[in-house]
Amino acid sequence: MNKVILFGTQPYDRESFEQLRDAYGFDICYHRSHLNIHNVALAQGADAVCIFVNDTADAETVRALSAQGVKLLALRCAGFNNVDLREAARCGMPVVRVPAYSPHAVAEHAVALLLALNRKIHRAYWRTRDGNFSLHGLLGFDLYGKTAGIVGTGRIARELIRILKGFGMEVLAYDLYPDPEYAAAAGITYVSLDELYHRSDVISLHCPLTDATRYMIGDVAISQMKPGVVLINTGRGQLIHTEALIDGLKEKRIGAAGLDVYEEEAAYFYEDTSDRILDDDVLARLLSFNNVIVTSHQGFFTREALANIAHTTMENLRAFFEGRPLENEVRADAQH
Ligand code: NAI
Repeated sequence: MNKVILFGTQPYDRESFEQLRDAYGFDICYHRSHLNIHNVALAQGADAVCIFVNDTADAETVRALSAQGVKLLALRCAGFNNVDLREAARCGMPVVRVPAYSPHAVAEHAVALLLALNRKIHRAYWRTRDGNFSLHGLLGFDLYGKTAGIVGTGRIARELIRILKGFGMEVLAYDLYPDPEYAAAAGITYVSLDELYHRSDVISLHCPLTDATRYMIGDVAISQMKPGVVLINTGRGQLIHTEALIDGLKEKRIGAAGLDVYEEEAAYFYEDTSDRILDDDVLARLLSFNNVIVTSHQGFFTREALANIAHTTMENLRAFFEGRPLENEVRADAQH
């Protein structure tokens, strides 16, 4: 029986995979801890290792997995920035992923952040519970007629654009590989990043984290943005230089920020740390702004997405074990 070891699992992951276990017949073992070089020994005996966004499959870890006889690395996510793909290729270890488990889930979460921040729902919720029915400080703006700047126009962005067009927003977009046919059909305009930063009232990030996009939102980008811009990041934390964002918020250039990802999230996200003192000063500062909402990488977290993640991962594993072509393989050159 083929053995698969899952790292970084939570009870809801187990539930969705357990529902499929009999249908696929793999020997599945779940670890709660995130994969990294220190616990890679836990993968001993596995034919395939399965990881999520906050596991670390850097070059050293990939080599250690391979040395232990692991033959396949299966990602339960779409992004693959946490994997050294070149090293995996050198070790002859294919890497597969779940390219689209629910673009709707992430796009809808981006909209949830935008609407909550703009109409101050997070503040109104606490106020009314405390008997404070004042509207002071809760003023928002109409999304209708405003301009949204979308960075990356892949699967998630296209769902978001559909929703934002429904609000009556004008949509500007930037993509390394623009798709003019899509732009014409969707009624959006591709522009340069500079123009997107200058003209957008709302900016949402949907490109992968690569060498080219790491810290793309830093001092320079923020200085070009419209004062009061709402910045939404459901992509990856390192797309934003957080200290620059904090400066932008303090200078009131950034009107609000909705962050489903954070560059140092691995130490906190998906865990209950409420009985500890938060020792990350940057995260603590972010959490102190009343115009910032941080969610812990939950964009994917819908019933439909969890079911799709488990199903596609099991199909990826089965295809590999049966020696069939790997439809969802990530090639080493995808990172550069
Ligand atoms: P996708 O692969 O369908 O689209 C990515 C788009 O970004 C493509 O159109 C690509 O051409 C473009 N792109 C690549 N390099 C670029 C660059 N340097 N500048 C601008 N655009 C560039 O990916 P999808 O499914 O839409 O996901 C986007 C990102 O969202 C993922 O890479 C992942 O990091 C993140 N994500 C976050 C989740 C969450 O729970 N918050 C869940 C799933 C994905």
